[in-house]
Amino acid sequence: MIVLGIESSCDETGVALYAPATGLVAHRLHSQIDLHAEYGGVVPELASRDHIRRLPQLIALTLSDAGIVPRELGAIGYTAGPGLAGALLVGASVAEAMAFALGIPALPIHHLEGHLLSPMLAADGPDFPFVALLVSGGHTQLMRVDGVGRYQLLGESVDDAAGEAFDKTAKLLGLGYPGGPELARLAEHGTAGRTPLPRPMLRADHLDFSFSGLKTAVLTAFDNGCRNADERADLAAEFQQAVTDVLVAKSLKAVEQSGLDTLVVAGGVGANRHLRSELAQACAGRGWRVCYPEPELCTDNGAMIAFAASLRLQAGLAESTDLGITVRPRWPLEQASAGTVR
Ligand code: KG4
Ligand code: ZN
Repeated sequence: MIVLGIESSCDETGVALYAPATGLVAHRLHSQIDLHAEYGGVVPELASRDHIRRLPQLIALTLSDAGIVPRELGAIGYTAGPGLAGALLVGASVAEAMAFALGIPALPIHHLEGHLLSPMLAADGPDFPFVALLVSGGHTQLMRVDGVGRYQLLGESVDDAAGEAFDKTAKLLGLGYPGGPELARLAEHGTAGRTPLPRPMLRADHLDFSFSGLKTAVLTAFDNGCRNADERADLAAEFQQAVTDVLVAKSLKAVEQSGLDTLVVAGGVGANRHLRSELAQACAGRGWRVCYPEPELCTDNGAMIAFAASLRLQAGLAESTDLGITVRPRWPLEQASAGTVR
């Protein structure tokens, strides 16, 4: 059984082929970074148009990379939410139409489910159960994961997501889009602690996060005299350290409270090297395992969607969509639980 996965929720068109017997067969990605760069952020209408332009060709190329023809496909998984409505509709329409033409199932997949299962694609990936830290541009969540479709929300951001905070802070510091990697690069040249920033909700009992105040604190520090490149780098380093401190502390608390010994980190911010090294150190000291997706699968991609669809099929959690092309721009992950894909 070969599953085609399609991701088009934001600014990346991702296509992949996954087979349970052999693993990831092929995957391709087209990033729209150049398209949105001059606007300093994603322009939804441009994103949708570009997905339409790229997706059919990307599917054809991915199939040809693997030497596979469409009638060999067993199912098609696509991101049905959360994300940009127009962008999601492109992937949903193409996937549903192809599946109908081929007489195979189409599976609407939750984008965050794709992210949180993606570390299991690695050769030495984790087994269930584990705690997942999901840190993307739109979400910051801690989940307990007991199996496919068995997700329990432990805590989440009450305002900005960690990636959003990185992006907004980067913009404030005059950096380009996408802000996260740019800010991380600048932080390498700076020293944390020179312009102290708060660690919101660090000591609170609960596992929720708040990052919007941190962004405001950066704005104040910036306005109060951040005049040269060195000071900007120091501020970037302190911001990265503040986000890292909070993410590490809450993740450790979540693993400890759950009684489990594995932490999975997924989503774009999981590519941050500073966060990775601090988490690795903290978990190693406690004898816990910390797992990430392969670096190229940290940010949005089709492989995680093909993989999640394949796991859902294996678990008997695929529902017929009856050619219903519906997307859910807002979609809590707990609602994508066992048997209730829609
Ligand atoms: O998971 P993702 O590709 O898309 C969403 O589902 O949102 O995550 C994108 C987010 C952006 O906010 C981006 O700035 C952030 O991940 N990001 C990073 C890094 N690489 C990507 N943030 C901090 N450090 C990085 N190295
Ligand atoms: Zn994502």
